[in-house]
Order: sequence, then C-alpha cells, then structure tokens
Amino acid sequence: MAVYACGVALEVKTAGESHGPALVAIVSGLPAGLLLDRDAIDHDLNRRQQGYGRSPRQRLEQDRVEVVAGLRHGCTLGSPLALVIRNRDHENWAWGMSPWPPEGDATGKGTTPVTLPRPGHADLAGALKYGHDDTRNTLERASARQTAVQVAAGAVAKALLREIGVEVSARVLEVGGEASEDEWQRATDAARADRDTLGGVIEVVAEGAPPGLGSYAEKETRLDARLAAALMGIQAVKGVEIGEGFALARRRGSEAHDEVGDDRRRETNRAGGIEGGVTNGEPVVVRAAMKPLPTLMRPLRSVDLESGEPGEALVERSDVQAVEALAVVAEAAVAWELARAAREKFGGDALIDFLGAHAAYLERIRWRHNG
Ligand SMILES: Cc1cc2nc3c(=O)[nH]c(=O)nc-3n(C[C@H](O)[C@H](O)[C@H](O)COP(=O)(O)O)c2cc1C
Repeated sequence: MAVYACGVALEVKTAGESHGPALVAIVSGLPAGLLLDRDAIDHDLNRRQQGYGRSPRQRLEQDRVEVVAGLRHGCTLGSPLALVIRNRDHENWAWGMSPWPPEGDATGKGTTPVTLPRPGHADLAGALKYGHDDTRNTLERASARQTAVQVAAGAVAKALLREIGVEVSARVLEVGGEASEDEWQRATDAARADRDTLGGVIEVVAEGAPPGLGSYAEKETRLDARLAAALMGIQAVKGVEIGEGFALARRRGSEAHDEVGDDRRRETNRAGGIEGGVTNGEPVVVRAAMKPLPTLMRPLRSVDLESGEPGEALVERSDVQAVEALAVVAEAAVAWELARAAREKFGGDALIDFLGAHAAYLERIRWRHNG
C-alpha cells in the first residue's frame, strides 16, 4: 500500500479460520511507548459478542486477547505487535479443523464435507474460485468470526487515537427496518420464530479528529473512500454513507453544505466531517447498512456441488441478526482507518514524537481542540 505522506504506515495482517485453533493479527507501525490496557481490549471483544439475536456460540466462547510480541509490561516497543485470540470452540472441531492430517477416527464437528452452498455466503463462489470440494474450506475464513481479531486491532487503534483526543463510538440505528430497541427485539423474536434473519443500519461517530486527516490528492488517500472500503470490508455490509449521504442527493446545494463560521467551525455537519476526502475538524459520521444474515434455519434453495442434485443450503449454528455486533466491528474499522491517517500525518517512532507533531500542527493551524 502506497503512503503519500512522510509519516509511518500503520498496517495489519490477519489470519485464522472460524473453528481453527486461533485468530491472529500482526500490527506494524505503532509508535513505541503507547500504553495498552488488556481489559479495554477484552471489553471490546466482549461487546462484539453481545447483542440480542446472537447465536449460542457467543456464550460458549468468551474471547480474550493474548499478546505474544511487541509489548513489554503493557507498553508498545515499536516492533510489530502480535495479537492472538484462541477459538475455544476448536476443541469440538479438533479433528475436523486440524491444521495437520488428523490422527485416529473422525470425531467431533466438521468431519463431513459441506457440499450445499448457502446463497448470500461466499460458499459457492469460493468453492469454484479455489477448487474446494468441501465449502468448509471457504466458509471457515469468509465467516465473520474473523472480525474478533479486527476488533482487537481496533482497540489498539482507539488507544492511540485517545492520545490525541479522538474518541470513536458506534450505535445501532435500525434492526429489520425498526428504529427503537423494543421494536428490534420484537422483530428479532418474530424472525427467530419464522427461522429467518434480519439486517440493519449502524452509525459510527469520531469526535476530536483535527482537520487534515486524509488527502484530496489521490483517490487512494481520500479518507471518505478509505472509510467506505474499511466498512465494506466487513462481512454483510452492503451500503455506506458519509454524513447525510444519500439524503444529500435529494436536496438543493443551499440545503446540503455546512457554512463556515468566523471561528472556522460549522453549525451543521451534513458532510459528516469530511470535505474533499479530508477531515474538516467536525465529527466524522459514517453509516453502514447490513444485509439480513445468509444462514437461515429455514434454508434457501441450493444445489449439491458433488451430485448436482437440487437441495437445501447448509444449516449451521447462526445469528438471527448481528447488528449490535456490527456496530462494534465498524467502530473498530473506523478507528483503525483514522489511526492510520493520523500515523501518516504525524509519524514518529516514539509516542512523544507523534504527540509533539500533533501539537505543533494544531499550533500552526491555530486549531482549538474541542473533542
Ligand atoms: C458481526 C457479524 C456476525 C455475523 N454473523 C453471521 C451469522 O451468524 N450467520 C451468517 O450467516 N452470517 C453472519 N454474518 C454475515 C456473513 O459473514 C456474510 O454475509 C458472508 O460472509 C458473506 O459476505 P457478504 O455478505 O459480505 O457478501 C455476520 C457478519 C457480521 C459482521
């Protein structure tokens, strides 16, 4: 990935299958001297597992982060940070998901090949693309279980952002087309009774970002494009809005923009804090639309990839809806992208250098931080 500023590239690479031994993330580009709080990371992992409509797996497994590199006594070393989350359910899949050829008779889960792809999942396209006879070889990685380790990386990004006064939070706006919590629960219960699933809409807000994160210079550097890609990178997200997004298309210009006051602040924030792909100092506001989850307990029509016979798609333990979980994952994704933009802008090998560059910049633009 190209970096167009003189700062540092914050990068993450993840690995891990849904029922494999563990999920892993390697984060590089963090400054040395950043204090991390294990409880804060575990708190976000726990938030991701909560929510009305989640499957029993979330109760079975309580995710906990392990750090195996890049940290000493809670403080980053400036070397790559390696995060691990064990899949506690793996013990039930030890034969089926064994990384090495398993010994002994087939036992536990995942021992019979999955040949009935689920519409709306990566199953069919993945099996064709990679030449898998068993679509488990696709679905184990395509599954949103992988978002756990993204949330852990996002919690690290939030710790860095907090150092420069940026707070990221998310909330659910709609579930199954309903806009209040009581109605979400009713809609979820009704969908569960019908063995069906729901989607919804979430919103992420980042307060305190200075003007100047991202750049209009190239399409890859535009923060709006990067946030859209970060959110679309989450399973089941099918639409993203920045600020008032689609509603702006139906208004006149006089009702669509945010006039600049003499203190350079805005009374409205229709742009969602980004103009020309660059933060403008107002809160960054993004929304994401999640489609109804594709694993239905009343399965959709499919075809057996082995026999060619019509059949019903795979039924596997699954959520009725996961919109609250999406909010937590989206919060992590937005925090990650903002932290990446901040590392590009302010650089620094040590946290103190990063903070110094941030303070000097605010001074130069005479920007009063009110995050
Ligand atoms: C937090 C979260 C939890 C999810 N849980 C499920 C689930 O339990 N069952 C399911 O079928 N899909 C679930 N999904 C969605 C699928 O992973 C996703 O629809 C699938 O991988 C296909 O990708 P696509 O929808 O982006 O095309 C979940 C997504 C997220 C973000």
